[in-house]
Amino acid sequence: MSNESPLIQSMRTAVAAAPADVPLRLHLAELLLGEGLGEAAVAEAAVALQHAPGDAGARALMMRAMGLPAPADGKAGTAEEPEQPAAHRPSTGFDWAAAEDEVAGAVPPRFVTPAPAPGPGATAPEVPLAADGSGDPGDATAWEVDTPGSVTLADVGGMQEIKDRLEAAFLAPMRNPELGRLYGKSLRGGLLMYGPPGCGKTFIARAVAGELGASFMSVSINDVLDMWMGNSERNMHEVFETARRQAPCVLFLDEVDALGAKRSRMQHGGMRNTVNQLLTELDGVGGANEGVFVLAATNVPWDVDIALRRPGRLDRTLLVLPPDAPAREAILRYHLRDRPIESVDLGKLVKVTEDLSGADLAHVCESASERALLDSTRTGVVRMINMKDLLGAAKEVRPSTDPWFASARNVAMFANEGGMYDELLAYLKKRRKL
Ligand SMILES: Nc1ncnc2c1ncn2[C@@H]1O[C@H](COP(=O)(O)OP(=O)(O)O)[C@@H](O)[C@H]1O
Ligand SMILES: [Mg+2]
Repeated sequence: MSNESPLIQSMRTAVAAAPADVPLRLHLAELLLGEGLGEAAVAEAAVALQHAPGDAGARALMMRAMGLPAPADGKAGTAEEPEQPAAHRPSTGFDWAAAEDEVAGAVPPRFVTPAPAPGPGATAPEVPLAADGSGDPGDATAWEVDTPGSVTLADVGGMQEIKDRLEAAFLAPMRNPELGRLYGKSLRGGLLMYGPPGCGKTFIARAVAGELGASFMSVSINDVLDMWMGNSERNMHEVFETARRQAPCVLFLDEVDALGAKRSRMQHGGMRNTVNQLLTELDGVGGANEGVFVLAATNVPWDVDIALRRPGRLDRTLLVLPPDAPAREAILRYHLRDRPIESVDLGKLVKVTEDLSGADLAHVCESASERALLDSTRTGVVRMINMKDLLGAAKEVRPSTDPWFASARNVAMFANEGGMYDELLAYLKKRRKL
């Protein structure tokens, strides 16, 4: 290959002369990877693995070349690594864009249907998967605030109904101060998002912050709670003070159910004080909360303290359901963006992944990569991730939302106080889950 450096060319000659020399071949693979020739590196790693299937260094290299995270068991990679010169260890994984340019015209397209022009919604931004509570419980005073980010509702795939409701109930009045004054008191308090885990509550809260050009502060109530008398209240106050200092700021309170007496780890008295502290903070005195927008979330709304749900507090609810078809497409596209795929029919994949959460979809992409990787390793012939891998992976994953719907169904049917779960009931009926 003409675009390979002289060093790589002589390494190739050496490897050809000693095809069974695994360390030598891995050295070549490292060099290739270091120069962004990921696909060629995968090929060499695959041959090395044929000669030495248990070789940890070869496995680790293969994973890196395929853009997968390094093996988690910690043992792999360390023993063999001194074989590879540190200077040639690449800092990045598989450079798919470069590889794609290189083999343009020679490989099948990534997607079988032409991708739409990449608008702002075409890719989802980097957010933690299945993010639940990111604060550090050991250091309750250092509440993290993200500066205004670039995630907006355009990055949230599908879910048009949610976007419309957010726009009408929250964003429009916030954007327009006149309208805000008109709404006055009714805009106090905040919005409570609820639904099964992994379906985008945190993601949506972040997008709302982006829409408002506000900073974003995500706090799990579990991290606020402290077993020592008075500490939870103080933590709660500090959280709000931090948000006020950063205004405009969206304060996202995750796992608010942790304050519910039913799930209490503490005595009732202690929890009551913490709930009262939150109510005080929500009410704010003398416009203290100017520019602080509270969004709360829970997977178990039926455990949320009723005092929090009174008018002017977390009285408005928003049901966040498993991603609809356009949302699934956006999520899948995002998770496949850096992986070596070929002829993927997204439309078909979207159809067979109904009921899967955002987190489940990420898992499907991950395990499809593993299938392709194992196959490449076994046969020594590198191949891309294809529809068979993805469909197989999708078939194996059970919707992680199933247990949630099982509980939610009972609550919606037998404890639908004040019609709070009407929206959920309608969905359950529509999906024949009732
Ligand atoms: N509509 C959507 N568009 C793009 N990505 C989404 C969407 N819904 C969920 N996700 C992704 O799914 C994952 C889980 O979402 P998350 O907000 O953490 O769920 P929750 O807070 O409800 O448990 C995140 O990686 C998020 O990026
Ligand atoms: Mg979350």
